[in-house]
Amino acid sequence: MQIYVDSANLDDIKHAASLGILSGVTTNPSLLAKEDPSVDVRERILEIHRIVGGHCSVEVVSTDKDGMLREADEILEWFPQATIKIPMIADGLAATSELAKRNVPVNMTLIFSATQALAANNAGAAYVSVFLGRLDDIATPGIDVISDTREIWEKQGLESKILAASLRHPLHLLQVAKAGAHIATTPYKVIIQSLKHPLTDAGLDKFLADYHKMQAEIAELRKQA
Ligand code: E4P
Repeated sequence: MQIYVDSANLDDIKHAASLGILSGVTTNPSLLAKEDPSVDVRERILEIHRIVGGHCSVEVVSTDKDGMLREADEILEWFPQATIKIPMIADGLAATSELAKRNVPVNMTLIFSATQALAANNAGAAYVSVFLGRLDDIATPGIDVISDTREIWEKQGLESKILAASLRHPLHLLQVAKAGAHIATTPYKVIIQSLKHPLTDAGLDKFLADYHKMQAEIAELRKQA
């Protein structure tokens, strides 16, 4: 399962990218709104793309098909490798279908059910972003939607990538990997949390302490010789 970082923060993205485990980045208007408003959105997106190098999803804010297509063309002028992120609404499906005919990769976002995922696939989306955390927030198990989607994909031989989104903690990462998501996009904090284990830290402390003790003993023996 590939890991994307879900962020518009340059420091976080830079650090996540430096780990060598990142295959892409997803942004959205809310993530961009959290950052310094003096930085032009286009400049920020281009910098993010430059840092990550791989997949970079950029979301449109129009809610009508023509507006979405206009925005998609603008984003593709910024950089032609962009994946256009389009919301799962009727006009979004129509815009996705047009872009797919032009071989432009679309990430359909705000998907909360397997039937929505199926529609996004059939419209030609290259990625279907299924949101977990927001379903969990309303006491509906988000992981079931990923599992159902994966089951349908296998039975029907569907090709778009299942992108697990709205992850809140490392357990989500584990669950979506087991459920067969192709990609998980996750906040920077969750990536870092998922790498930590207290036994790793304790084990390293012990190895280093033993190594330094041995070096001290060797130095002492040499002094006596
Ligand atoms: C997906 O691409 C979205 O940007 C994101 O995962 C939404 O997550 P949230 O529910 O934590 O805002």
